[in-house]
Amino acid sequence: MAERFRLTVNGTESELEADANTPLLYAQRNDLELKGTRFGCGSGQCGACFVLIDAHPAPACDTPLWAAAGKRITTVEGLSKGSEPHPLQHAFLAEQAAQCGYCTSGILISAAALLAKNPRPTEVEVRAALDRNLCRCGSHNRMVRAVLRAASEIAP
Ligand code: FES
Ligand code: FES
Repeated sequence: MAERFRLTVNGTESELEADANTPLLYAQRNDLELKGTRFGCGSGQCGACFVLIDAHPAPACDTPLWAAAGKRITTVEGLSKGSEPHPLQHAFLAEQAAQCGYCTSGILISAAALLAKNPRPTEVEVRAALDRNLCRCGSHNRMVRAVLRAASEIAP
């Protein structure tokens, strides 16, 4: 049965009507036209669909609307400040860190959460923060370099 939900995504409030168990990812992509978050495994295992929920990386594929309502949600589209990309986005380009790019939005979300609480992480800490994100192209080492590069620009 459809219910009404109020979502706050990237600082904008929206109302939508859907079944309470609809995954947040479906609402993002189908109702809010936010297509940057990817569908990978659909079961909380790969990290492709990660968004920030109250500043914590979480799988949007495995978060029902009833659990997302009333929380502060940030998708990859919300990482930039207006037209200015997030330092991580600059660094990913500079390091050519994405190959096919399918995992990239989820990895940017995990990395952004890390840098928000630890602006100068060690390589070990970066690898631990990205541990829940799979990259089928094997680009992890370039991504780790990109996160360290962004960190050095944020907190020189
Ligand atoms: S698609 Fe959500 S964790 Fe894999
Ligand atoms: S760049 Fe292709 S899955 Fe990560």
